[in-house]
Amino acid sequence: MNVLILGSGGREHCFAELISKSKSCDKLFVAPGNSGTSLVAENLDISPTDFDLVKRAIVQYNIQLVVVGPEDPLVRGIHDFIISDPILKGVKVIGPKQKAAQLEGSKDFAKNFLNRHNIPTAKHETFTNRQFEEACEYIDNNSPPYVLKADGLAAGKGVLIIDNPNQAKDELYQMLVKSKFGVASSSVVIEEFLEGIELSCFVLTDGKNFKILPSAKDYKRIGEGDTGLNTGGMGAISPPPFLGEDIKTKIEERIIYPTIKGFALDKLDYSGFVFFGLILVDENPYVIEYNVRMGDPETQVVLPRINSDFLELLNSVYTGSLRSHDLKVNENSAATVVMVSGGYPETYEKNMEIKGLDKVKKSKVFHAGVTKEKGVLKTNGGRVLAVTSLGENINSALETSYSSIRKIRFKNQYYRKDIGFDL
Ligand code: AMP
Ligand code: GLY
Repeated sequence: MNVLILGSGGREHCFAELISKSKSCDKLFVAPGNSGTSLVAENLDISPTDFDLVKRAIVQYNIQLVVVGPEDPLVRGIHDFIISDPILKGVKVIGPKQKAAQLEGSKDFAKNFLNRHNIPTAKHETFTNRQFEEACEYIDNNSPPYVLKADGLAAGKGVLIIDNPNQAKDELYQMLVKSKFGVASSSVVIEEFLEGIELSCFVLTDGKNFKILPSAKDYKRIGEGDTGLNTGGMGAISPPPFLGEDIKTKIEERIIYPTIKGFALDKLDYSGFVFFGLILVDENPYVIEYNVRMGDPETQVVLPRINSDFLELLNSVYTGSLRSHDLKVNENSAATVVMVSGGYPETYEKNMEIKGLDKVKKSKVFHAGVTKEKGVLKTNGGRVLAVTSLGENINSALETSYSSIRKIRFKNQYYRKDIGFDL
């Protein structure tokens, strides 16, 4: 089978590594990919949101399966686009259709889905840009901290947690009235604050059946001790050691089953990954958010723990064999530490030469913001590399990743030295 992966991050490099090893994979393409994916696949210089160019590539390279990495093309309807085109008949897509992708594309849509299907989540109200006064009243009538969320996609920046009521109203003004996040904040969800430990769970589903993949915990803040600005993710571990059997059962019964059942009840066509962003409050799981794709850098610890054929797993979504697929998970733990360009998630410089990757023997280095120019690897983004290791436990996996990182050099490099500090 010929496969096209859409995306250019560490997540997509990790997908490409696994899919390229599958006995079912004939030719593998990544659009646009990065220097890492070019080692195992052919990169195509195409943006995943340029649907016409994606179509052309599918035809030209006789692609049978498209794996969508990031949320943006899904929320813009790439799945619907592909299957509604007679020329692309029979092409399979991993990633939901546009209607279901709203679970990530609209916080309000997701909250209504959760409430309709009695899935535990924080209490909320949604306010549009014509309801600024009502939103302020809500602040007055509720106690801090206030969780304000731009309804639409805001590149991970649309959530604000604020203690002071006046500051919360100022922010609401910026979001609703001054379009702080563009159209994404023309509606704002205000949510009850939940206190607890976060974790990420993943399933692959055909809309009716599902396979639970390994879970993970990621570290979103830029600074050590979980301080400073939110990022895409600075590191991750799998499995979270605090995830006991009884919590797993609660997650399956209270969250995963009703979600998949909800897809059927709401006639949401779903073929792809569901990423459950969860928070455990006194060992009870609540949904903080849905994502309609895999996480980055969670993928870089989840997939390396899968020992069975990953492409066959993806294909089973379309062959009716997902339920019977024999998913083999490695008992080892995995850790990844993300190396970023100094300044990220704010402004940073690019084009720094990356050295020392050839000296890393015990970890797998996934490329994210990296390009190759005349044979030289250079930084090309905020998150540059994700250094993944396996070990008997989280600590040994982390030790290996940190010792590998010390062999890698680029100017202004930064990474958190405390991934897993809280476990
Ligand atoms: P989200 O984009 O919805 O995942 O939110 C980003 C981050 O904000 C989450 O990973 C949590 O750390 C935090 N967060 C979101 N919603 C809540 C909530 N209701 N209570 C506490 N923290 C939250
Ligand atoms: N690491 C969080 C995300 O992929 O959304």
